[in-house]
Amino acid sequence: MFIYTTKTTLERHLKAFRDQNKTIGFVPTMGAIHHGHLTLLEKSMRNNDCTVVSIFVNPTQFNNAEDLEKYPRDLDRDVTTIESLSNQIVIFAPSVNEIYENNTVSESFSYDGLEFEMEGAQRPGHFDGVGTVVKKLFEIVRPNVAYFGEKDFQQLQIIKKMVEKTGLDVEVVGVPIHREHSGLAMSSRNERLSIQGLKDATYLYRVLEEAKKRFVSENPVKVQQFVESEFKNNPNFELEYFTIADEATLKPIVEKEAGHKYRGFLVAHLEGVRLIDNISLN
Ligand code: PAF
Repeated sequence: MFIYTTKTTLERHLKAFRDQNKTIGFVPTMGAIHHGHLTLLEKSMRNNDCTVVSIFVNPTQFNNAEDLEKYPRDLDRDVTTIESLSNQIVIFAPSVNEIYENNTVSESFSYDGLEFEMEGAQRPGHFDGVGTVVKKLFEIVRPNVAYFGEKDFQQLQIIKKMVEKTGLDVEVVGVPIHREHSGLAMSSRNERLSIQGLKDATYLYRVLEEAKKRFVSENPVKVQQFVESEFKNNPNFELEYFTIADEATLKPIVEKEAGHKYRGFLVAHLEGVRLIDNISLN
């Protein structure tokens, strides 16, 4: 395995690829590697000569100190999981200081309003933190292509916008959500659910699929009401939001317009775990 903790040693490895005009694919993560991450890594390996995965719990994207502290960190386990896929993947696991150089603060970004919707409204400053670290990582790894899961669809759109605005030469590719057989979207947070919770959580995708069926013939407001009433009748969950939004602007819609792509975005709490999912509606 190739495991680097400093920019210099990582660059020494990557230079051999750059010098031969070989392509570098990159998967940024915060660790707690699961099958969803492995899907991104597989895609990168199929399409590039070298694949880099970063494992870095980014302090500037947490609005809550306790969340940051409680975030699962187990590098040995992550290395073993990645190694099960390939021992040619390059792991970059830097310290906070290596990335932030004694200045652990966010840059301020404008993402043309994408940052004010949904997760941005719930978690102020979160997307500045994400943009800051992804920009720094892109500058270090200098990948040709970077892969992000569509489970965090808003994050994916925000990173595309950051790249467009900063002019970084990276292609940002979204990868469809990887689901368990039960339909549950893969997430590090699933580990915090009980066995019963894992069964109950499949409800999220069932509701999203039903919303998608209804979206064909019903207007967005009615579909929204349907989802909200479903959650009211299910005592296991606390619904934080369900929004039907335009994929490009992430603005909520009340009417469908021809030529636009829409998605349903859902956040609900189960056993104290904040679960997030979304579905393409058309
Ligand atoms: O999605 C994540 O795991 C993080 O937000 C990311 C993109 C690695 C930035 O820290």
